[in-house]
Amino acid sequence: MDNFSKLFLVLISSFLLFAPSQAQDCSAYTFSNNVYTACNRLPALSSFIHWNYHQANNSIDIAYRHTGVTTSNWVAWALNPGTGRMDGAQSLIAFRNSTGLVYAYTSPITGYSPTMRPGTLSFRVPSVRAEFVDNQMILYATIELPPGRTSFTHVWQHGDLSGDAPQAHPFTGEHLSSYGAIDFATGRTADTGATGEGSRQRKRNVHGVLNVVSWGILMPLGAMAARYLKVFKAANPAWFYLHVTCQASAYIVGVAGWGTGLKLGSDSPGVERTTHRNIGITLFALGTLQVFALLLRPKPDHKYRFYWNIYHHAIGYAVISLSIANIFEGFDILDPEKKWKQAYIGVLIFLGVNALLLEAFTWFVVLKRKRESGSDKYPHATNGMNGVNGYGA
Ligand SMILES: *[C@@H]1O[C@H](CO)[C@@H](O)[C@H](O)[C@H]1NC(C)=O
Ligand SMILES: *[C@@H]1O[C@H](CO)[C@@H](O)[C@H](O)[C@H]1NC(C)=O
Repeated sequence: MDNFSKLFLVLISSFLLFAPSQAQDCSAYTFSNNVYTACNRLPALSSFIHWNYHQANNSIDIAYRHTGVTTSNWVAWALNPGTGRMDGAQSLIAFRNSTGLVYAYTSPITGYSPTMRPGTLSFRVPSVRAEFVDNQMILYATIELPPGRTSFTHVWQHGDLSGDAPQAHPFTGEHLSSYGAIDFATGRTADTGATGEGSRQRKRNVHGVLNVVSWGILMPLGAMAARYLKVFKAANPAWFYLHVTCQASAYIVGVAGWGTGLKLGSDSPGVERTTHRNIGITLFALGTLQVFALLLRPKPDHKYRFYWNIYHHAIGYAVISLSIANIFEGFDILDPEKKWKQAYIGVLIFLGVNALLLEAFTWFVVLKRKRESGSDKYPHATNGMNGVNGYGA
């Protein structure tokens, strides 16, 4: 097995290593009637919150699941727009009533011995319903959040029923720690110290950083190493190893980033992300093609090497352009603080200016050599710049 076959095996095994695990978490739960892009395992009372946030009208569609309850329990989930937890909680309540049907309604809580009777909340709730399946109560609701706010304290509970009347919930154990902070726009949650599910936002940030560093910075750098170092005779064959190392690291990190993207995508299917996803899949295919191209390249003096060079350069430039385009697509989706996008634009300008200077310098050197040797070779003609190096095999 030659070195490049080994390198390829390393690349493939790293991909398998980095491939997202299908861990059982809240996102593995599927609802028959809707897909929720965000979810969080709540730190108490075996509960989960799933939601879609609509920025256009600052509304949310939620599915709150409270597992391990019976038909003689009531279940509640509430947002508290104030500073309290229970006091002021704008609640959704559900239980199976004496008719045998699941009854879901809204109820504003004031004080610590509320009636829990139906009432209107401080924000609009266009729809609320619930179903009892597999020992879990699932509350579904559409909520129009108060203008300009996406972050709240939320609280959840269960207690016993006496006929059709909800009774006070126990004041012990997890019934006292069933509250937290939630931001429906960013997915950021904070709990009371018990283990909560890693926030979706963190996964998206990891995805962003991995891909910007690999596809967005290392790959263009690796291409520059190949194009501009080989003009220095002393850098032969060092440029080649630098190029391969750079692109191989970029590919490994890039494939890891790509995997995190697929995972994020499968957690939140949505038409608005198809372009980003399709470019991402194309990039993975083209990047992998480049790895094969490396293994299959003809010797420098082979008659097909000329065509191989054209092919390798064309795919390489396509990968770099698509990568940069897709990173900007990603910035639009992730919508991070402006400074991150500006920082990346800064890096691109830096790379671009250096590429321009090095390009000019390369032409200067190549033309000078041509004059001296009387050769008629131009950069990129036949073996062109590769004629300067011709390293391979
Ligand atoms: C808010 O907008 C989304 C689309 O962006 C729509 O599906 C949803 O029904 C709207 N919700 C409300 C409460 O108007
Ligand atoms: C029981 O629940 C059904 C379905 O939500 C509702 O229509 C009915 O009014 C409820 N009855 C009582 C007594 O709460």
